[in-house]
Amino acid sequence: MPERTPYLAANWKMHKTVAEAGEFVDALLPRIAATQSDVVICPPTTALSAVVERRYGTAVKVAAQNMHEEDSGAFTGEVSASMLVELDVEAVVLGHSERRQLFGETDEALARKVPAALAAGLEPILCVGESEEARDAEQTDAVLERQLRADLAAVVGTKLAEVVIAYEPIWAIGTGRTATPEQAQEACAFIRGLVGAIDADAAAAVRILYGGSVKPANAAELFGLDDVDGGLVDGLGRLPQTHVQHGLLRERLRARRRRAPAAAGRRCAAPCPAAQAGC
Ligand code: 13P
Repeated sequence: MPERTPYLAANWKMHKTVAEAGEFVDALLPRIAATQSDVVICPPTTALSAVVERRYGTAVKVAAQNMHEEDSGAFTGEVSASMLVELDVEAVVLGHSERRQLFGETDEALARKVPAALAAGLEPILCVGESEEARDAEQTDAVLERQLRADLAAVVGTKLAEVVIAYEPIWAIGTGRTATPEQAQEACAFIRGLVGAIDADAAAAVRILYGGSVKPANAAELFGLDDVDGGLVDGLGRLPQTHVQHGLLRERLRARRRRAPAAAGRRCAAPCPAAQAGC
């Protein structure tokens, strides 16, 4: 089974001016110099270039928060995949629940956006997740399956492994109510199973993230789950202090598992004693 590189993405939403973005990245870069995780910053469109310029020669990738499925046209206010590639942006968040709920982004549009991003060489970070009503009605799996089947309908074979899937339960986003490790693992395993129904190799390789009120107290446990390969967080000032450190922790846990295969599958307790000892 391929080793999946941990993936930590900070979705800044509509926060940070160009100046604030530059200050943040300048402070972040020294802290992540040794990381082997994919560290991805998702600034607002206005700050994309400022972050791109600062991250040249580093491990940081830059993602836009949205794009249009067409390459050009009369679509006021939109940007296309090729326009993002021209800026040296490498990834794009698609289907965030805020875009689905507040801006009417549909699965039909996403079914075109995901392959358009891949065709342009952008890594799609596809967000899926259920509402509180759906979870209460035990419809979580049905919602995830409907979203993923629709959004990935036109993505074939090996390309599936290039999509990063973020499980973000809507009721957990910005609410302080984090999914329990059991809920996060169950949903992410279900998502991996759905990908596996399309392509077994892609299921083993695809990165699946958890997002929704990740905090210093729960990040290590969530990111240590078997089917969770990292996180999508709002990252407002928290990323350098906590989440990247937890990404490093996960790398070390994985390295330890590689050295001691019998320990594979064991989960890190929360709070992680190894982290407290500064491992
Ligand atoms: P919070 O970390 O504030 O819950 O936001 C998560 C999110 O929406 C990332 O895309």
